Amino acid sequence: MSNLVVSGGAPLSGKVIPSGSKNSALPIIFATVLCRGVSVLYGVPDITDVRVSLEIISTLGASCTRIGEALYIDTSDMEYNRPPLSLVTRIRASSYLLGSCVGRFGRAHISAFGGCAFENRPIDMHISAAQRLGCTVWDDLVLASSLVGTDIRFDKASVGATVNTILLASRAKGRTRIFGYAREMHIMNLISFLRTAGAKITLTDGYIEIEGRTLTGGVCRIIPDMIEAGTYLSLSLATGSDISVVASGTELASFLAAMVDGGAVLTDSGGEIALSGSLSEPLRVTTAPHPGFPTDLQPQTAPVMARYSGGEIIENVWRSRFGYLDELSKFGVEYTLMGNRAVIMPSRLHSAVAVACDLRAGAALLIAALMAEGESVIKNAEVIDRGYERIIEKLRELGAKIERTE
Ligand code: EPZ
Repeated sequence: MSNLVVSGGAPLSGKVIPSGSKNSALPIIFATVLCRGVSVLYGVPDITDVRVSLEIISTLGASCTRIGEALYIDTSDMEYNRPPLSLVTRIRASSYLLGSCVGRFGRAHISAFGGCAFENRPIDMHISAAQRLGCTVWDDLVLASSLVGTDIRFDKASVGATVNTILLASRAKGRTRIFGYAREMHIMNLISFLRTAGAKITLTDGYIEIEGRTLTGGVCRIIPDMIEAGTYLSLSLATGSDISVVASGTELASFLAAMVDGGAVLTDSGGEIALSGSLSEPLRVTTAPHPGFPTDLQPQTAPVMARYSGGEIIENVWRSRFGYLDELSKFGVEYTLMGNRAVIMPSRLHSAVAVACDLRAGAALLIAALMAEGESVIKNAEVIDRGYERIIEKLRELGAKIERTE
């Protein structure tokens, strides 16, 4: 178990260049299993979830080599055997074994996938889409003697179900159309990768259309992580710092709009974004699938609310994603919680010892620790390494006093 020891209370300053997006790199790594040959991925972040994903596909015979900024994944000689549960249960992205392994080998185990356990995370939508494409499910084994394209309709947006359906459809005979698909940019990054591997995918506003093909190695650059960008912008506001982030105002539009509505001053000079000023109005955050306010940025806004005029969080994607509030209250953050709505009061923060229960909860605690005067400790800090590359180095470059202890 590793801890972060933080001396907080001082404003920070500097520029942050986000790493490649975790939630974009993970589906693409599993997608290489469908693309027999060598794929080259640029800008893959060196984070725990990526390392575990590479370990998982290596147990199936893939060979993964980093050379400089490029990650080479050779999937020429692979055969299916059940990946070790010790790996599969560590990350949510192992759910992509369904689409990648059924697409390549005709079978996959759908054991207990891991990931941030802020609430139960079902895969019923993944399974029903797979069955419509010709899969049969026996206990925890999914089999497909042949995949046949068809229309798939989702009644709500699911990133994971959209990813797995795209992977299966890319290898199915004939045409698949996916209605109600998730529109996060990481889905578009996956589609652009698959196209370089030979996939025939067209995008309309209503559906994704895929003609199944045999796929060979592809190439792509992982898009920058906008959740990481939003995390550092929240840190800047919460600590009264002068931090700019290289980011896309379009991708972060709903996050930036909420901060500006609270009174923050937004500057965007040629792709370098900063938020400054004190928030004179309560922040109002209502999460929704893209292009709505990203659920993965809502925990980070709680310390910002506490510093200024308070605010409200309505969580519509993971309705009980509020476990972090208990830990934040150890820093003095005052809140009330009713169902999927939290109200954060203006609060005076002090140093504390707290436990990071999941990735974005850990980010919220780190922001609180950097806000509060004095020395704070964040336990179980390895969960933060799951999704933030070189976070200690990046924070130190901004002037933070932070140490990792085992
Ligand atoms: C992905 O999770 C991300 N993880 C999550 O980020 C993110 O919070 C989530 O998308 C929403 O953007 C990765 O990409 C590895 P969903 P995923 O399927 O795919 C319901 C982070 O911090 N649902 O879009 O698991 C589900 O309960 C992590 O980086 C079903 O009901 O999320 C939820 O309410 C945390 N049945 C909603 O859909 C299903 O079969 C959205 O879930 C699948 C989902």
